[in-house]
Amino acid sequence: MTRVILFGTDSMLRDDMTNPSTDRFLAMDGAISREKWEEDFADDAAAIQRLKKERNAVILAHNYQTPEIFLSVADIKGDSLALAREAQTLKEQVVVMAGVHFMAETVKLLNPEKTVLIPDLKAGCSLAEGITVENVRALKEAHPGVPVVTYVNSTVAVKAETDICCTSGNARKIVQSLGVPEVIMIPDENLARNIEKETGIKMYTWPAYCEVHREFTPAEIEDYRRKFAPVTVIAHPECSPEVVAASDMSGSTAEMLRYVAEKQPERVLLITECSMTRNLAALYPKTHFIGPCNFCPHMKRITLKKIRHALETLSPEVTIDPALQAPARRAVERMLQV
Ligand code: 13P
Ligand code: SF4
Repeated sequence: MTRVILFGTDSMLRDDMTNPSTDRFLAMDGAISREKWEEDFADDAAAIQRLKKERNAVILAHNYQTPEIFLSVADIKGDSLALAREAQTLKEQVVVMAGVHFMAETVKLLNPEKTVLIPDLKAGCSLAEGITVENVRALKEAHPGVPVVTYVNSTVAVKAETDICCTSGNARKIVQSLGVPEVIMIPDENLARNIEKETGIKMYTWPAYCEVHREFTPAEIEDYRRKFAPVTVIAHPECSPEVVAASDMSGSTAEMLRYVAEKQPERVLLITECSMTRNLAALYPKTHFIGPCNFCPHMKRITLKKIRHALETLSPEVTIDPALQAPARRAVERMLQV
């Protein structure tokens, strides 16, 4: 049965939530017709289900994957934190990451003996590409003794330079757990500023940004509020502090999902990647979702066809430089222990 991770902690796994998936997707207003499903997706979806059994494989999918992946072939779904947590408990020998490269690297760090596949090796992230090892070393030199907290949206090489990792779902807790007045928080300057505001802990930051979330503006939110009031505005913390301040709630993608699941607001504006809105619209038909459709080009590199190909060929495989394995894994495991 498909596990839908709503909250990002094991105790909150909703195993009882059956996969409303493909049927809900097909029933969704204007989402896709049954004819289109049959023409574009049905064959690949059926082949993937068969290949998963043959290969002893599991598919992990981030909340930003397209509905035909998220709702029809994914076994474990969630935010970065939930996917990392689940990666510690996998029984299957082959893991397909329907997400971006740093997420697949995290799975491989925690499962060096498993075959970890990413259907497109070019599925990157502007944050992971926005900082180098040399940049991190320079920051450490400039602020000796200050702990380095690295957002999981980063390369293994950067993680290896780090004291502890965090995700958007646990950043505040991780930073507070260090018990220090100042922290180097990289690579996402917006996330660091948002956490600085919440905790009062001073942040030394790096100017890297999510290319999707940095596009949103407070003026855009005000415009939606004027046109569609009343509307609940939910923003991802990769947005600027000004956008977060203009919103009603901010949280990781799993926290957004939980908020909608619990409150089922009548109308919601999700200030995040567009597939997330489509997936939630399928799961929560009582809520009306409005808003701009900003896609992450990296997440969108993953398609059903590429997942099928990955399972057929057992490639492309994610590998980790053996010299980086131990220090990077330590930073991720330290985060998971908090
Ligand atoms: P979450 O961990 O909140 O799912 O975010 C990951 C991400 O890449 C957001 O852009
Ligand atoms: Fe990276 Fe932004 Fe895409 Fe998330 S949405 S994977 S942070 S570029």
